[in-house]
Amino acid sequence: MAGASKLKRRAGRIPPLTVRRLIARGARRLRRARVHFGHGTDNAWDEAASLTLHALKLPHTGGAALYRRRVSAANAARAGELIERRIAERLPAPYLTGISWFAGLSFAVDARVLVPRSPLAELIERGFAPWADPERVRRILDLGTGSGCIAIACAKALPGTKVDAVDISAAALEVARINVRRHRLARRVRLLKSDHFSALQGRTYDLIVANPPYVGARELRGLPAEYRHEPRVALAAGARGLDSVAVILREAQHHLRSGGLLIVEVGNTEAAVRRAYPRLPFLWLQFARGGGGVFLLTREQLVAH
Ligand SMILES: C[S@@+](CC[C@H](N)C(=O)[O-])C[C@H]1O[C@@H](n2cnc3c(N)ncnc32)[C@H](O)[C@@H]1O
Repeated sequence: MAGASKLKRRAGRIPPLTVRRLIARGARRLRRARVHFGHGTDNAWDEAASLTLHALKLPHTGGAALYRRRVSAANAARAGELIERRIAERLPAPYLTGISWFAGLSFAVDARVLVPRSPLAELIERGFAPWADPERVRRILDLGTGSGCIAIACAKALPGTKVDAVDISAAALEVARINVRRHRLARRVRLLKSDHFSALQGRTYDLIVANPPYVGARELRGLPAEYRHEPRVALAAGARGLDSVAVILREAQHHLRSGGLLIVEVGNTEAAVRRAYPRLPFLWLQFARGGGGVFLLTREQLVAH
C-alpha cells in the first residue's frame, strides 16, 4: 500500500505533457538525427514546432497560452510519427504539412514544386522599393513560378499590377493554380506553360522577376538528401549552374519596357555569374533578413551590353 501511494505521489510530480514539451522533444530528436534545415526554417525548434502544431491541428499564432496546452497521448503519438517521417525519409517539412510561408502568405506545396524560400520575399514585401516606383509598375513577369509564390506575393504587394507567371513544368503550374485560386487572384495572375520566354512573344513588362534553376552539377551532387525530394528541373542548371540565367540575360531585354527592371536570384552561383559576364554592371542586392545572390539590371544596361 505504502509503495502504491509513493508511486502516485511520484506520478503527481511528473509535469503534464504540454505542447511546449512535445515541441522540445521533437527538436531534440531532429537535432540528434542531424536533419538538414533549409526549407522554411533554419533550426530544430522551429522545424519541430511547425510539424507538431500541424499534427495537433493548432494555429501558429496561438501565443504563449497555446504552448501551455496539454496534449493527449494519441495526439503526442501523431506528432511523433510526423517527426519520425521527417527523419527517416529526409522529407522537407513543408512536404509533410503541405504548407509553406512566403512574404507573410501561405502557399500549398508538394513535391511538384520547390519549397518557397527566396530572399526576394523581402524585396516584394517592400514593393521593390527603392528600385521600382510602385505607381509605374503595371505588368510583371515571374519566370519559373513554381508554386506561384513570387507572382502571388507581387500581385498582393502591388495591387495595381497584372502578373504573368510562367513555368516549363506542367506539374508545377497545377500547384500554382491551386495557390492563385486560394488567394483569389485568377483575374490578375495568369499562368502559362513556357520554356523561358518562348510563349511570351511580343509581351513586355515593367518588371521581370526570376528565381530560375541555378545549381551546378557538382553542387547538385553534394546537396543534403532533403533537396533530392525537390523537382530536379527547379534546381539543375547545367555544369556551372548558368544555363537558365544565360537565356534570361540574353532574352530579357526583348520583354522589358523602357525603364524596366530585371531582378534575378542566382544564389551561390553569384561568383560564376560575375566571372561569366565581367562587363555586365550587375547591382547585387542586400537583404536585412539574410540571403543574397540576387542581381538587378535595367533594360538599358542589358541593351548596352
Ligand atoms: C528555383 S525554382 C523557383 C520556384 C519559385 N519561383 C520559388 O521561388 O519558389 C525554379 C522554377 O523554374 C522552373 N523552370 C526550370 N526551367 C525552366 C524553363 N526553361 N522555363 C521556365 N521555367 C523553368 C522550374 O520548373 C521551377 O519551378
